[in-house]
Amino acid sequence: MTALDQTYDIYNIKMSQPKRYTITAALPYTNGPIHIGHLAGVYIPADIYARYKRLTGNDVAFICGSDEHGVPITIKAKKEGVTPQDIVDKYHAIIKQSFEDFGITFDNYSRTSAKIHHETASEFFKTLNDKGEFIEEVSEQLYDAEANQFLADRFIIGTCPKCGNEESYGDQCENCGTSHNATDLINPKSAITGNVPSLKETKHWFLPLDKHENFLKKWILEDHKKDWKSNVYGQCKSWIDDGLRPRAVTRDLDWGIPVPAPGGEGKVLYVWFDAPIGYISATKEWAEREGKDWKPYWKDENTKLLHFIGKDNIVFHCIIFPAMLKAEGSYILPDNVPANEFLNLEGNKLSTSKNWAVWLPDYLKDFPDKQDVLRYALTANAPETKDNDFTWKDFQARNNNELVAIFGNFINRVVVLTNKYYEGIVPESSNFSEIDNETLKKIKAYPEVISSSLERYRFREAGQELMNLARLGNKYLADEEPWKVIKQDEARTKTIMFVALQIASALATLSEPFLPFSSSKLKTILGFENLTTVPNWLDISSKNVLLPSGHEIGKAELLFSKIEDQEIQAQLEKLEASKRANEAANKVIEPQKETISFDDFTKLDIRVGTIIEAEKMPKAKKLLVLKVDTGIDIRTIVSGIAESFKTEEIIGKQVTVLINLAPRKLRGVESEGMILMTESEDGKLVFVNPDAATSLATVANGLTIS
Ligand code: 2FM
Ligand code: ZN
Repeated sequence: MTALDQTYDIYNIKMSQPKRYTITAALPYTNGPIHIGHLAGVYIPADIYARYKRLTGNDVAFICGSDEHGVPITIKAKKEGVTPQDIVDKYHAIIKQSFEDFGITFDNYSRTSAKIHHETASEFFKTLNDKGEFIEEVSEQLYDAEANQFLADRFIIGTCPKCGNEESYGDQCENCGTSHNATDLINPKSAITGNVPSLKETKHWFLPLDKHENFLKKWILEDHKKDWKSNVYGQCKSWIDDGLRPRAVTRDLDWGIPVPAPGGEGKVLYVWFDAPIGYISATKEWAEREGKDWKPYWKDENTKLLHFIGKDNIVFHCIIFPAMLKAEGSYILPDNVPANEFLNLEGNKLSTSKNWAVWLPDYLKDFPDKQDVLRYALTANAPETKDNDFTWKDFQARNNNELVAIFGNFINRVVVLTNKYYEGIVPESSNFSEIDNETLKKIKAYPEVISSSLERYRFREAGQELMNLARLGNKYLADEEPWKVIKQDEARTKTIMFVALQIASALATLSEPFLPFSSSKLKTILGFENLTTVPNWLDISSKNVLLPSGHEIGKAELLFSKIEDQEIQAQLEKLEASKRANEAANKVIEPQKETISFDDFTKLDIRVGTIIEAEKMPKAKKLLVLKVDTGIDIRTIVSGIAESFKTEEIIGKQVTVLINLAPRKLRGVESEGMILMTESEDGKLVFVNPDAATSLATVANGLTIS
């Protein structure tokens, strides 16, 4: 058994005949640019997979486009005082450009406002309607009389019936992922006016998911129990176990694809009905452009259909869209839906509305030649099985300690030494040592090792295996020390450099899906364009020589460069600034209270006192029990400042006290006055004290009674 066969055996992989793959990546909403969460969850793994499948000789259609309908777009347009069309045009252009600049190799990036999509989605709806696959029903839906609008999806906010999240949307709870009907929400409120909605009758088309329950049970819970990721399988199982119900696929909105059926006037298709059909329309558009037939990519049982998505999209891709495809009858179903969990940023949830994100266009501006660094850092830290955190420090470490110190360092040494010793010509090898043979055998195993991880959608693992190949190269050079051997054994040095160059060329090919820009640079450095046979992914396993003796390579060029602390600091400061701006924008300014008369004011007896004792109120997180010397007596005051001050740091402090406030019992302790507090410019609670730091400006921010 060869090393190669053994690898096949371990991972139970068969390099099967080339196949046709339709690979889709979730269509992003065009209400903002792409951020690192989108990249880590969807677009980087999808692109790695598509590139890998192309490299291994398969026929790939990698499809995406802008999701331009739906309430998020309408809300953004309202907020900016422009039309929804203005919003989608603006963000479609930004998103498309940034994907291109980042090296995402979609075969087609379309948009759901395209004519071909409107036609395809309408046709799909009509087919299901004609086949009697919908239930048409007049029912009571939530309505905002002031806005004169039915409240669907993100136009309505309420408490999720499943997890209790008070900010669930009408169609989906972002906290627990449950997809529900707007009328299921507890305490619903209009997101437009804040009003409590009324109920009003309206007709809609419903997809009876319950009718497809048996099929979904078998297809997911039996057929895909083993090969779907456990997070995906688990979510599906929980929905199926909860029981599936009819879901409305039309909406009373004016932005979207008009319902193509009698009685559908003034209504549009639900965005989650039309968006996944966008994958089909984008494939058609691509095929037309390329002079191909689109049908095998969606209708041939031998095609593998894969949907790359984030976890909030699982129900739509695993339950609703497959039910639609099944009901239509002529389409294949997804073979796998490798959904990822969420990425956080510096410990907090990524948020478009709070501007807590690293935006792709900004990243590309700040790091114009470092696309691969972000790809690598996000892959190494991908939220594959659980939510994960992106930190700028980790990003810097991945670059400096791995890409620069391992990968780049190995390549640089090989190229510099080959130029120095042999004027850039790959030397002849002679008499491989045991270590050489071992090393050459290990190189041959790498394509399958990496493939095995990729076939199981383990992109983190695959990326680390690639880095292990570079580690192998570094170790080989460190152990064989050609810079020392050259002094006594020229033939041996040539063999060492020959082996090291084979590792470098395997890295050039295998890194392509993960580090496409660096891979291309490395191929140029190694002079791949002058090779009669450029090694491909499969060649590495089978060929003994990837870079033949006599071949001329180019000069050394740095593949990666160090990222300095100040570059990271600048990014952290940018985030801090956006946090502050967001807090300022969301700060609720209390309106001025009712005017009081001068007589009312003179009733207040405010004096300067000194805190002489302070202790925590037992079993109360916020309360301190203080003894305050007011100048006329020593009295007890209970104050809600325990979360802002330690007892020992306030003893001896001068404070301002309202002493003639009616006494009040707090947790059984009588409080005989009130300490006056205010907020400092950085939002901290501070005493209004006469002895220093509290400036007039901060007092002017308003007093807080604690
Ligand atoms: O969650 C989202 O951003 C959606 N726009 C994804 C749509 S995926 C597909 F079905 F189009
Ligand atoms: Zn919920």
